[in-house]
Amino acid sequence: MIIAIDGPAASGKGTIAKRVADHFGFHCLDTGLLYRAVARDVARAGFKLDDTWAAVAFARGLDAATLDDPALRGAEAGDRASVVAKIPEVRRALLAYQRAFARREPGAVLDGRDIGTVVCPDADAKLFVTATSEVRAERRFLELRSRGDQSTSFDEVLDSILARDARDSGRADAPMKIADDAILLDTTQLDIEAAFDAAVGSIKRKIGQRAAT
Ligand code: CDP
Repeated sequence: MIIAIDGPAASGKGTIAKRVADHFGFHCLDTGLLYRAVARDVARAGFKLDDTWAAVAFARGLDAATLDDPALRGAEAGDRASVVAKIPEVRRALLAYQRAFARREPGAVLDGRDIGTVVCPDADAKLFVTATSEVRAERRFLELRSRGDQSTSFDEVLDSILARDARDSGRADAPMKIADDAILLDTTQLDIEAAFDAAVGSIKRKIGQRAAT
């Protein structure tokens, strides 16, 4: 059983993915961490982020055991990730790991930008989680404040979200877009509990429909 959850930054997709995975007893992969880790490794080794050769080499050699590195969680790591994520060979190098993870039993939830469209086009259920850019920026801003970051302003957070949306939707390879058969979940007016309930309800309906056909 494969559940694909895509959507833009701070839409709530990561939290929803974890809770959905817990609910069904499935494995969960935040695929953004793969791109964040590649960007970290490229920068640490002293290369520029748009250095294709270096980015591809680090993507091919990525050590999944380093994905729980807290340094990957910050806003800057997300911005850097979207630079290496534009490189088609980097995306290709990360495909096998994601697809193998998706096959794990009894099931897997993967969240990202291209799970329903490219990584797992045959997923059993697909969600595209979104919210207005202002609401997403507000969530990210509060999250940064709660982690002790007092220096980043709301406008800076909003600008960074808009820039990342543009990079992720505008890239030629595997752009962020809603799969034809994805269920759209707009969390603008929903708190996390309501968003989770809506996600589980939609997934159960979809799986029920597939089983009936
Ligand atoms: O948590 P947040 O939505 O802010 O970011 P993330 O999911 O960790 O993704 C960071 C960046 O990695 C995104 O802006 C994308 O550029 C890239 N990414 C991607 O291209 N494809 C994925 N499946 C996941 C992330």
